[in-house]
Amino acid sequence: MNHPLNQQNIQAWDHLYAETGNPVWGSHAIHFLHEWEPALRSLGLEGKPILEAGVGEGRNLGFMLTLGGNPVHGCDASPSAISKIPAPYRENVHLHCCDLSKIPLPDQSFAFIGMFDVFETLPHAREVMHELHRICAPSAHILLNIPDFSDSISSVGMEPQPDGGFLFAGKFYYRFYEEEEAVSLLESAGFRIVESRVHSWEEEPHENFRHETHHHTSRVFLIRKAT
Ligand SMILES: C[S@@+](CC[C@H](N)C(=O)[O-])C[C@H]1O[C@@H](n2cnc3c(N)ncnc32)[C@H](O)[C@@H]1O
Repeated sequence: MNHPLNQQNIQAWDHLYAETGNPVWGSHAIHFLHEWEPALRSLGLEGKPILEAGVGEGRNLGFMLTLGGNPVHGCDASPSAISKIPAPYRENVHLHCCDLSKIPLPDQSFAFIGMFDVFETLPHAREVMHELHRICAPSAHILLNIPDFSDSISSVGMEPQPDGGFLFAGKFYYRFYEEEEAVSLLESAGFRIVESRVHSWEEEPHENFRHETHHHTSRVFLIRKAT
């Protein structure tokens, strides 16, 4: 069952990307990725299929491509975001425009999935984690971040929704998870927590989205398919 806000949310993100030719999130990989590089390298991903879920305009693909995975896939529900992914990445990444709860790829496809700044934007996060579990190979890993209410975005113009989530700027869905709730959701989707760390970083303004330089705080989880 899809969440009533999912389609509206997907459209809001797509319009945001279509409004400007510039990359909304900038062109550098999300701040914490480099700190996880040693842990990801130790997974031995060379020559194994990997995916970035919710790839957006591809700011993290340069990093994903350095992990040695092959082939590298990316997916997002926004056609406008996908069309903005820079040419050098497009040539080396298989791109799919789809909802994350219905990814058009076979069971047990991937050894590793990265999902960055996406979980908290999903009205149907539980469904999505079950779908990622389906496409994970046995013992595959996922790296993802999940913010709680200490992330500064949680206190800017959020309208509460009946399901416990919020709408930012009246149209972008957000939901914040305390550690215990996040762990319980990930475990109930069939994953085991390998490691988690809290990261804080500063970001430049995002065109048509956040006008000020701002801080983010997020718990980053490395999880492994357990069942
Ligand atoms: C805050 S952006 C982050 C994009 C990218 N991961 C990055 O770090 O630049 C959230 C992304 O999630 C995507 N998204 C939101 N809901 C989705 C859904 N149901 N299925 C697929 N993608 C979705 C949006 O289109 C958007 O690109």
